[in-house]
Amino acid sequence: MGVKLDTLGLLDLEEKVSRFLWVERSGSEGVKEDWSWWKPAMAVDALIAELAKLAPMFTLQNVVQGLAVAVFVAIVIVKLRAPKLKLPPGPIALPVVGNWLQVGDDLNHKNLAEMAEKYGDVFLLKMGQRNLVVVSSPDIAKDVLHTQGVEFGSRTRNVVFDIFTGNGQDMVFTVYGEHWRRMRRIMTVPFFTNKVVQHSRYAWEEEADYVIQDLKANAEAATSGTIIRRRLQLMMYNIMYRMMFNSRFETEDDPLFVKLKALNGERSRLAQSFDYNYGDFIPILRPFLRGYLKVCQDVKDRRLALFKDYFIDERKKLNAVNPPKSEAEKCAIDHILDAQKKGEINEDNVLYIVENINVAAIETTLWSIEWGVAELVNHPEIQTTIRNELDTVLGKGNLITEPDTYNNKLPYLSAFVKEVMRLHMAIPLLVPHMNLHHAKLAGYDIPAESKILVNAWWIANNPKNWESPEKFMPERFLDGKIEASGNDFRFLPFGVGRRACPGIIIAMPLLSIVLGRLIQSFELLPPPGVKKVDVAETGGQFSLRIANHSNVVVRPLD
Ligand code: HEM
Repeated sequence: MGVKLDTLGLLDLEEKVSRFLWVERSGSEGVKEDWSWWKPAMAVDALIAELAKLAPMFTLQNVVQGLAVAVFVAIVIVKLRAPKLKLPPGPIALPVVGNWLQVGDDLNHKNLAEMAEKYGDVFLLKMGQRNLVVVSSPDIAKDVLHTQGVEFGSRTRNVVFDIFTGNGQDMVFTVYGEHWRRMRRIMTVPFFTNKVVQHSRYAWEEEADYVIQDLKANAEAATSGTIIRRRLQLMMYNIMYRMMFNSRFETEDDPLFVKLKALNGERSRLAQSFDYNYGDFIPILRPFLRGYLKVCQDVKDRRLALFKDYFIDERKKLNAVNPPKSEAEKCAIDHILDAQKKGEINEDNVLYIVENINVAAIETTLWSIEWGVAELVNHPEIQTTIRNELDTVLGKGNLITEPDTYNNKLPYLSAFVKEVMRLHMAIPLLVPHMNLHHAKLAGYDIPAESKILVNAWWIANNPKNWESPEKFMPERFLDGKIEASGNDFRFLPFGVGRRACPGIIIAMPLLSIVLGRLIQSFELLPPPGVKKVDVAETGGQFSLRIANHSNVVVRPLD
């Protein structure tokens, strides 16, 4: 080095550091260093005095070289002093990028299942700076979601989700803690209780009826077919918007519905895209994401403004003139605004609850219905079995209602719905979990703030756990012992434990009502000239849906 290190006493320090490193590396017990000479205050004074004298010697080159050596020494010391961790197995990671270039962006349930075959039921990928732990067995899933549910009960954050959730002011994507507990409690009363289901079921059944009426009125649907998803999407929006705001959209062309659907679609596309991974994994590349994040911010602002102006404020105006006379007359937003009035949450939290319902409830249920329709079209014998069961148990002409969907009253229909969810999980890796602090899992060390993916799809489709898992076979659920609520860790379409999906109380009966009524009203067929509809899938960061929205012929039954 260009400066006189000996005049500063730094040569002595350098020698001590190198000897210290040797002791650490060799693990020698015999060498005991005497550090008593090191008096920080005196040393700093001396250093400043000497530096003043040496000022002319501090060229830029010297300073940079000195800093580089200091940083290197600090890194070596930190590395050597860090406790030795027993990390889960995984591919060897490169500096900076980790395994990112080896494994790519699309870490979907199938790619991760292949890696699990190679590295085991718990393995680690380093995605740039982030640790990603993948869990692929029922036992370890139980540990993450149930036994150590608190330790692994947080959610990861990333640059894009931070924008859409206002840095975790929502419920679905927020860390485990007081805020999450409060938000979950406030959302439970208006959405996730039996009382709410009993109150809302008539609206669900009515919306399913409107679908059937519209399909029957559409002559083409019975001959060349219709993209049934479009009408079912309107139905799902109406079901959730009636529950939230007591409002509905008349037609698919309603301008407000079109705008809302477009903004929700944009939000999903931007959040589920792999295009922002590089800036998320490697923080120094984040400046290049500025344009992407600006678009996210713009979509988020327009979307929250739409929720506020057209739904929340409208409801407030209505309540000011004509307040609900009883609890039964209240819709979900009334309860949530009550919580705001009591000071339990703020105005932003109210908006993020609406945002969460829009992303968590509508498309997930719709995708599952869509997979269900596709499997019915491709398995006419299953349609017939379910139709016969409905006729026998309920009596011909009696449409299925919500109370019919429990206690295995309709075993084949229930088994069919579960089989749809086993083979085609809308959220196959669950919503990513995270451990706030260092944790242990299956004997491995899991560094704090690791992203934990539970590959629920692979657990439900691994031949080690299921017989002929690739076959669509509702019979496997026929005895009604395995529920979707997670009483068997081989089948977790809604997760289980603290962060499990609370919407299961709505989604499961709804799936049976909608699919059951379609089967009771129509013969569902592929379009002319097609043998089977395409069930290929496409996904994003953690969602999965049918790739092509097929045309389906709905031929009314007498
Ligand atoms: C078939 C439809 C649905 C599926 C497959 C589904 C699946 C899931 C899954 C896998 C999770 C994450 C569980 C975990 O991380 O361990 C989740 C979370 C969640 N779901 Fe659903 N869901 C569906 C419908 C709904 C509905 C209808 C609602 C609301 C009305 C809803 C609201 C939520 C909420 C609020 C969370 C976050 C829970 C938390 O973080 O504490 N979901 N859902």
